[in-house]
Amino acid sequence: MGKANWKPGTVLYPVPAVMVSCGTMESPNVITVAWTGTINSDPAMTYVSIRPSRHSFDLIKESGEFVINLVTKDLAYACDYCGVKSGRDLNKFEEMKLTPKKGEQVDAPIIYESPVNIECKVKEIIPLGTHHMFLGEVVSVSVSDEYLDETGKFHFNKTEPICYSHGGYYTLGEQLGTFGYSVKKPVTTSQKTKAYPKKSSIECKKEEAKHSKKIQAKNSRKKQKHQ
Ligand SMILES: Cc1cc2nc3c(=O)[nH]c(=O)nc-3n(C[C@H](O)[C@H](O)[C@H](O)COP(=O)(O)O)c2cc1C
Repeated sequence: MGKANWKPGTVLYPVPAVMVSCGTMESPNVITVAWTGTINSDPAMTYVSIRPSRHSFDLIKESGEFVINLVTKDLAYACDYCGVKSGRDLNKFEEMKLTPKKGEQVDAPIIYESPVNIECKVKEIIPLGTHHMFLGEVVSVSVSDEYLDETGKFHFNKTEPICYSHGGYYTLGEQLGTFGYSVKKPVTTSQKTKAYPKKSSIECKKEEAKHSKKIQAKNSRKKQKHQ
């Protein structure tokens, strides 16, 4: 088995596909962007890379503001539409029956139907080649309260977020673990049930049996050593 070597290109996938709203409440627009990401934690900073030919490019450059609206399964169709039609020709909010609402800290509209709206102010514009990178400082975040539980925790994955990979839109697959699970010590059945509520009790029992077998083997090895 070998490797095929390709010329440099954009092959980093999957990535988020987000709907970036911009303009004003009177003249709102949405552009779909896949070249986006988090670039700093504190202050929270993000970026969107946009071609100068896009209608949204001028809107964001002029206002110095944009809103990143996260995309769910229900919004996937609108997300694609906003990525193939230009706001120069039509009102994408109206066409896709999206609701513009004024941002908390920016004049640009948020997309009310999106469960997470990240309002940004442009800090820097970096021309890179085909795209200009708009570095944005996050100035406000709004989340839909239907995904908040009684403790105030936001259940992001319940929104059915989508990603974009090699030309296709996908929902997320099965969860493989949680942050740091590779170094976590074995946990008890009750803890496991809490961490992975979807696991059946049969699966938990199987894992518990496997774990206690390991412990028994370890203990008997210890015993033999001391004998
Ligand atoms: C999945 C997807 C991702 C896209 N990502 C980008 C991007 O990162 N940057 C960009 O300039 N255009 C991107 N586009 C293209 C723009 O969304 C598209 O040209 C859009 O019609 C521009 O709208 P506007 O003229 O109203 O600004 C993407 C399109 C799709 C479908």
